[in-house]
Amino acid sequence: MWNKVQETVKYLRENGFSTPDYGIILGSGLGKLVDIITVEKSIDYKEIPNFPVSTVEGHSGKLIFGTIGTKKVICLQGRFHYYEGWTMQETIFPVRVMKILGTKNLIVSNASGGVNANFKVGDIMLITDHINMMPEHPLHGKNDTRFGPRFVDMHDAYDKSMIAKMEEIAAESNVKVHKGVYMSLQGPTFETPAEYGMVRVLGADCVGMSTVPEVIVAKHMDMTCFGVSVITDLGVEGIVESVSHEEVQKAAKSAEKILSKLVAKFVTEY
Ligand code: HPA
Repeated sequence: MWNKVQETVKYLRENGFSTPDYGIILGSGLGKLVDIITVEKSIDYKEIPNFPVSTVEGHSGKLIFGTIGTKKVICLQGRFHYYEGWTMQETIFPVRVMKILGTKNLIVSNASGGVNANFKVGDIMLITDHINMMPEHPLHGKNDTRFGPRFVDMHDAYDKSMIAKMEEIAAESNVKVHKGVYMSLQGPTFETPAEYGMVRVLGADCVGMSTVPEVIVAKHMDMTCFGVSVITDLGVEGIVESVSHEEVQKAAKSAEKILSKLVAKFVTEY
């Protein structure tokens, strides 16, 4: 992994990617951020040595380098979900690359099913913590100390001061945001009503199929992380409605413009 990451980083540096301030994984809800970025470089994943190529509908595959205000950003447009069949190592590869390029901060977004009765479809939730229920751990196996330590502290996985800053920006912009716990399950099935109930009982506010592996690996490398989730469907007792990928995408799109603005402001000001 170390040598592959070095090779990819070398390629990116030769292609104009200098040290970014922020790494951003443009999951559901952050698609419009690309319209705000002043793009300097955009490279298809298939051109980048060692990069996996994503296949899921609605997730194209480009690595973007550019600026938002005075900040330099590197963005993954299209992430690698474990449910697509990628190994955990493939799923988290771009995060390793971001860090070795010199990126200190990671921003991730996702779509999730809300199990908190106060949530509505289209709401935005700042992730304060996660519960990892993925069947495989991205740090399983021999540890490479060049990336980070064997045992990783996850107490402050989602940076409190970043959350506070985003709350401030949301309030100034008159956008209501929730805070809560994100649980990752492998998917690709959405949850049964009983499973949504389990997610709630276990202490989460929403459930999705991504983010946690990337944040674990970012913490392994001592990155500062901020995560945000768009609630695209509900699995709340009494309101168990069916859900489809199209509905999830539609709900995520509805929050895209506002969330992208909030994140752009955050990156500029933080
Ligand atoms: N469950 C899991 N993943 C999701 C959901 C959900 O309800 N909504 C969007 N991604």
